Amino acid sequence: MDSNTLVAGKGIKRLKNAGINVIVGVLEKECREHHKKFFTVQDKKRPYIILKWAETRDGFIAPLAKKDQRPVWISNQYSQQLVHKLRSKEHAILVGTNTVIFDNPKLNVRSWSGENPVRIVLDKNLRIEKNLSVFDESVKTIFITEKKEPYFKSSLDLIFETIDYSKNIGVQICEILYKHQIQSVIIEGGLQTLQTFINENLWDEALVFTGETEFNEGIKAPVLNGIIKEMINIKTDVLKIYTND
Ligand SMILES: NC(=O)c1ccc[n+]([C@@H]2O[C@H](COP(=O)([O-])OP(=O)(O)OC[C@H]3O[C@@H](n4cnc5c(N)ncnc54)[C@H](OP(=O)(O)O)[C@@H]3O)[C@@H](O)[C@H]2O)c1
Repeated sequence: MDSNTLVAGKGIKRLKNAGINVIVGVLEKECREHHKKFFTVQDKKRPYIILKWAETRDGFIAPLAKKDQRPVWISNQYSQQLVHKLRSKEHAILVGTNTVIFDNPKLNVRSWSGENPVRIVLDKNLRIEKNLSVFDESVKTIFITEKKEPYFKSSLDLIFETIDYSKNIGVQICEILYKHQIQSVIIEGGLQTLQTFINENLWDEALVFTGETEFNEGIKAPVLNGIIKEMINIKTDVLKIYTND
């Protein structure tokens, strides 16, 4: 059943039968926008997908080499806080293996109030060490692996799901997220992970923060063809919001 049948289904008929004057199609565009996550799940059988990354003025998302196991910040503190606010509105957050290994992110909502999203972590060969934050069991975390027998048994908070990494990874991940009833996911990198979803055309919105720094060399930002819906200045940063319509 798609969203049209849901909306134009029995509910309207029952109201009309009960003698209620029903007007349909009022502010349809605005209503669709308001319910876009719900409609995506109903129509496409996958969560609403938001891509997010920060890039330097010269188009890099990370330097080539890093000293510490934590992120090198590109965007300013106001953008970082906004990202935490955005995370609090989404059901899940997804990152690639290298991002976890290089940055050891917590992927939570520290600078805003609200619920932490479910963490989705790609780990084909289970090479992420267990002392990293994604294993801290502070929030439900789903590992997407290729290993049939993970070294950890799935528990309430640590779940292991298996896919075939040799083909349409994005589609398979979406099937797993749909199975877990994840309504929306924000994908926060790195390059390979973001580009995977872009190449499979599995995204609805992209949030690209451009900071004022330059790296001269590093890991290039993903390549994306989308329509810029909005541009917002956040002090020294610019946030471009793309849609994939
Ligand atoms: N500026 C930002 O917004 C931002 C955000 C996040 C991360 N970063 C930076 O990005 C860098 C990491 O980027 P990255 O591209 O190297 O790594 P990544 O996307 O985080 O992880 C790549 C790894 O994930 C697995 N993977 C992801 N997609 C896959 C696919 N389609 N097929 C097979 N395996 C896939 C592979 O693991 P296996 O090798 O185990 O197979 C691959 O090596 C870090 O330096 C991090 O700091 C920047």
